[in-house]
Amino acid sequence: MARITHLECTKCAQRLTADTPQTVCPKDGGVLYARYDLHAIKSPFSQGQLKGRACTMWRYAEVLPEANPVSLGEGFTPILSSREHPNVYIKDEGLNPTGSFKARGLSAAVTMAKHYGLKKLAIPSAGNAAGALAAYAAAAGIEAHIFMPKDVPIANRIESEYYGAHVTLVDGLIGDCARMVGERKKTEGWFDVSTLKEPFRVEGKKTMGYEVAEQLGWRMPQGIIYPTGGGVGMIGMWKAFDEMEQLGWIGPERPQMITVQSAGCAPIVKAWDEGKSAAEMWPNAATTAAGLRVPKAYGDYLILDILRKSRGTAVAVTDEEIMDALHHWARVEGIFAAPEGAAALAAYRKLRGNGFFQPDDTVVLFNTGTGLKYLDTMDGAQRSRTNLPTSRQIAGIIGPY
Ligand SMILES: Cc1ncc(COP(=O)(O)O)c(C=O)c1O
Ligand SMILES: [Zn+2]
Repeated sequence: MARITHLECTKCAQRLTADTPQTVCPKDGGVLYARYDLHAIKSPFSQGQLKGRACTMWRYAEVLPEANPVSLGEGFTPILSSREHPNVYIKDEGLNPTGSFKARGLSAAVTMAKHYGLKKLAIPSAGNAAGALAAYAAAAGIEAHIFMPKDVPIANRIESEYYGAHVTLVDGLIGDCARMVGERKKTEGWFDVSTLKEPFRVEGKKTMGYEVAEQLGWRMPQGIIYPTGGGVGMIGMWKAFDEMEQLGWIGPERPQMITVQSAGCAPIVKAWDEGKSAAEMWPNAATTAAGLRVPKAYGDYLILDILRKSRGTAVAVTDEEIMDALHHWARVEGIFAAPEGAAALAAYRKLRGNGFFQPDDTVVLFNTGTGLKYLDTMDGAQRSRTNLPTSRQIAGIIGPY
């Protein structure tokens, strides 16, 4: 692995080789970060060289693993100026392959799995990561074993099946799915690509940080609002900012990083409010924003550290506020967002309301996925207000799936 010098534990700084597949730190379970010789990369790799490169996340090849990319055209998504708020930008990740930002992480993870010659990958997923793994595994000719809650939006299940993945629907939440992967992976010979349990999904997600900087002319926004489940996007972007500073592309300035979660599952917000450095398991997690239904994030200590270092904050929004924001974005901006993405607008409204952000602050809101993957959720939410049957009930297809 030429460009990566080593993997480094985020807890104890132990170094491991990237020449063989690694999971987490063997000493303390810490998340591993890929490290590069940025000093050596610095002089040949300048911002100017990005001109004319492919409009995918692989345009930042020098700071990504040196392997043959398994790509479906992910990344370099539009950053749209809000029509409503002059200094707000919407980074529309719904335009990625499989309709969410999960494509970035799984493109990188599957690229490396292929590079290492791994044949079977397994993932517990709140939904969108499943579809993304299934697609990239199909493109790479690798087996995908997917475990997701049985009530995920129907698109997540159907696309995974079409991509040829082995899908198990679990009567529980993502933590239960993770336990099932953990129990079976050794006997089944699966490599676990769970959130933050291997080093390369972060590498894919960090490209969002490079893109925000490049698309804003290498100026950092005042704030970034990121819908947080496992928090990989926030963790990745923060890593990207550090790398860019070492490359001399930006200075020490950083955006205020804002976590938004659903009030029905807000472990990071609770920990933040209580001044803790790690989060507790959130009991009875429930929200229409399926991707935010992560009761305990493996990288909670990293997320909370980033919020603190960036002078950011953490905000909880209700499902009603999310759905209201979703409707509003669709009508005012022409953007049909995933509920998780709409949560970013709901949070922005709160942070404007309480004066955290001023009208002239430049703020980037991440729409992490397309609303088109949530038609059943939205249909259900719409109908339950009027007590009418959902279209799936009408079609007679509701039931255990
Ligand atoms: C659309 C969407 N947004 C946000 C998230 C949360 O992402 P992360 O786990 O990287 O915090 C997910 C996770 O499933 C998602 O599907
Ligand atoms: Zn360690």
